[in-house]
Amino acid sequence: MIFAAILAGGIGSRMGGTDTPKQFLALGNKPVIIHTIEKFVINDDVDEIIVLTPKNFINHTNHLIEKYIPNHENIVVIEGGETRNGTILNSISYIEKNYGIDEESIIITHDSVRPFLTHRIIEDNIEAAKKYGACDTVIPATDTIVESINAKTIESIPVRDYYYQGQTPQSFNIKKLFNLITSLTEEESNILTDACKIFTLKDEDVHLVDGEVTNIKITYPYDLKLANTILEDIHD
Ligand code: CTP
Repeated sequence: MIFAAILAGGIGSRMGGTDTPKQFLALGNKPVIIHTIEKFVINDDVDEIIVLTPKNFINHTNHLIEKYIPNHENIVVIEGGETRNGTILNSISYIEKNYGIDEESIIITHDSVRPFLTHRIIEDNIEAAKKYGACDTVIPATDTIVESINAKTIESIPVRDYYYQGQTPQSFNIKKLFNLITSLTEEESNILTDACKIFTLKDEDVHLVDGEVTNIKITYPYDLKLANTILEDIHD
């Protein structure tokens, strides 16, 4: 089976000035999270969409889905975790409890606050996760990367051609991800804030999938303005 996990368990502290997590703020005429979920609803390959939110937003999210998404039979809303990896873990626990963990099933994990992912990106993730067991969506770094350990002077300037900016989705063979996550010590899971990093640190290959510059993450208020501009551009 193919599962999508929409990671919406964060509170958006860097957005500031609002009690409503950024995934529930309006982008055009509907909440950010609805734009994101819709991209998976229209993909026939995805069997079930698991949306993970803070506990006190589960009802709200269900209401939004009922209001905006007519065919929502394969969407379930459950509680996210304290950390982003904790949220991913909750989606795997849900799958384990309801379907069991088989050899082939894959999970596409995606930030709820990246509403502009494309059909092509989802398809490429599915293909790569099936073929290689793990993949990350990236775009080539455009700015020069400068490394500084002390935040005062430059340590090194790596060759830009080898550097990419990580986006999402990140997609995995569920069994592999489950085995790796459950093998982590508490110390390791505190450091490993990125699911792909778990694979690389355990010497497992993670395949690259081409992202898009428009597949932005809404982090700061400026990003929401930018997102509205991208949305207008798409509709032109
Ligand atoms: N996320 C999650 N569960 C968490 C923390 C984050 O599902 N415990 C999700 C967010 O909801 C978001 C995505 O991971 O869709 C990317 O994380 P980020 O932009 O850092 O979101 P927040 O943690 O909400 O933002 P901030 O760091 O500003 O508080």
